[in-house]
Amino acid sequence: MFNKRVKIKDALGMPAGKEEITVMGWVRTLRNNQFIALNDGSTNENLQVVLELGLFDEILLKKITTGASVRAVGKLVVSPGKGQQVELKADTVEILGLSDAEKFPLQPKKHSLEFLREIAHLRFRTNTFGSVFRVRHALAFAVHRFFNERGFIYLHTPIITASDAEGAGEMFKVTTLPFDETPRTEEGAVDYKEDFFGRATNLTVSGQLEGELAAMGFSEIYTFGPTFRAENSNTARHLAEFWMIEPEVAFNDLEDNMDLAEAFVRYLIDYVLKNNPADLVFLDQRLAEEERQKPQNERSETGLIEKLEAVASQDFERITYTEAIDILLQSTAYKKKKFKYDIFWGTDLQSEHERWLVEKHFRKPVIVTNYPKEIKAFYMRQNADGKTVAAMDILAPGIGEIVGGSQREERLDVLENRMREMHIPVEQMWWYLDTRRFGTVPHAGFGLGFERMVQFVTGMTNIRDVIPFPRTPNNAEF
Ligand code: 4AD
Ligand code: MG
Repeated sequence: MFNKRVKIKDALGMPAGKEEITVMGWVRTLRNNQFIALNDGSTNENLQVVLELGLFDEILLKKITTGASVRAVGKLVVSPGKGQQVELKADTVEILGLSDAEKFPLQPKKHSLEFLREIAHLRFRTNTFGSVFRVRHALAFAVHRFFNERGFIYLHTPIITASDAEGAGEMFKVTTLPFDETPRTEEGAVDYKEDFFGRATNLTVSGQLEGELAAMGFSEIYTFGPTFRAENSNTARHLAEFWMIEPEVAFNDLEDNMDLAEAFVRYLIDYVLKNNPADLVFLDQRLAEEERQKPQNERSETGLIEKLEAVASQDFERITYTEAIDILLQSTAYKKKKFKYDIFWGTDLQSEHERWLVEKHFRKPVIVTNYPKEIKAFYMRQNADGKTVAAMDILAPGIGEIVGGSQREERLDVLENRMREMHIPVEQMWWYLDTRRFGTVPHAGFGLGFERMVQFVTGMTNIRDVIPFPRTPNNAEF
C-alpha cells in the first residue's frame, strides 16, 4: 500500500488525469474545512487536497489539524485557484497520526531560527530547513560525484584515533576508564594501559594523516566524515562536531592543490545551481528578507543566487600571506583602527581581516598562500625562504576560511626536524614517517569544512542551522 505513494514534488508536475493517485504527508494547514495544504518534504510546495463539502464527516475533519499525518487518495484536477497547476480532488482521506493542535509547537507563522533549534524534531517540517537540508544533501552527493568523476578513491579514516599530532584543536577523549578509582601508574598518572585500547585515544580532528598513507598507494583519495574539536569557541562558524572533506593527492604541488580546491568549490556551487533551483529561490528570498531587517550600511548588496553565480563563474583571487598583510596594513579600515586585532607579519589572520579582504577589497573568494611556518601545522612543506610554508587557505565572502590545506613536507629529515621543534612525538609517528621513508613523493591536500560550504550556499548566518543536530558548547540535546 505504501509503495504506491506519489511524492508531492512529482504529483505537482503531473498533468490532471482520470487515474487515482495516493499521496501522504503532514498537514500544514486546513482552510475552510475544505483545503488541506499537504507537504511531504520532497519540496517546499504544498499539494492542495480538496475535500468536497458534505462528503467527509465532521469527526474526520476535526482530526485534520496542523501537523497531523494523512493519506489521501483522489484524482489530480486542474486547479482553479492561484499558485498551483493541479490539486488533488480527494475521494478518501485517512488519518495516519493525530497532532494535538493545542500542543503542536509550530504555528503557521514565522518562527525564529533559535526557537526551531530547540525543537529539532519539527524543524524538518519548515520551509527554511526543508530547503537547507535538501541543499545539504545535494552538496554531499556532488562531493562524491566530483571525486568519482576524477578517479579518486573514497577512503574511510578512523573516528577513534591515538594520533594527537594534528594540533588542530582540543580533542575529546575516548575512554572506558572509570572516573572514580581511575587506575594510576606508580607515578600517579592515569594508567591508559588499563583502558579499552591499552592507550590514550580521542575522537579524530582530521583524517588527513591517515589519508596521506592511502594517497601513497592510490595516488588520489578523499575522505568525507565527521571530525571533532573541543574548542570552546561559541561562534556562528564553529561546531564541536562537523563534517570535513579531505582530498590528498600524490604528485601534486601547492599550485595543483589550489587548482583542485577551486575547481571543487565551484563545481559544488554549480551543481546546486543546476539541481536545486526552487530551494535556492526560496533561500534567496529568505535572505533578502533578513537583510531588509538590517541597517542600510550592513546590508549585503548582492542576492544569494547572484553571489553563487558569480563565484561559480569567476576565477578566485590568489595572493600570498605577505601580500595580504601589506594590503591590510594599507587599508583605510586599518588606518582608522576599525580592526579589533592588530596586524603584523607573523600574526594569524583573524576572521575580521579575512572578511575584509574578501568582502570589501576583492569582492570574491581569495586563496591566501605561503603563511609563516609558526602559525601552521608541522606537516606543511617548508619554503626556501626558511620562514614560510606551502600552505593555502580559501576565504569566502560571509564565511571567512572555508578551505585549509597545503603541500606536505615530503623530505624525511626536514619533517623530522620540524616535528622535534614543535615537540611532536617522532617515535610514535613512525607509521606516518614511513611514507617518507619508502618511496616518498611530493603531495598535497586540503580540508573543506562541509557545514561552512552549506552555509555559503544557503546563505544561513549561523552554522548551527545547516547541520541537523548541532553539537556546540553546552549543547548536545537530541
Ligand atoms: O584548517 P583545518 O583545521 O585543516 C585541517 O584539519 C587539515 N587537516 C586539512 C587538510 O589539509 N587535509 O580545517 C579545515 C576546514 C577549515 O577550513 C574549516 O572550513 C573547517 O575545516 N573547520 C570547521 N568547521 C566547523 N567547525 C569547526 N570547529 C571547524 N574547524 C575547522
Ligand atoms: Mg585552518
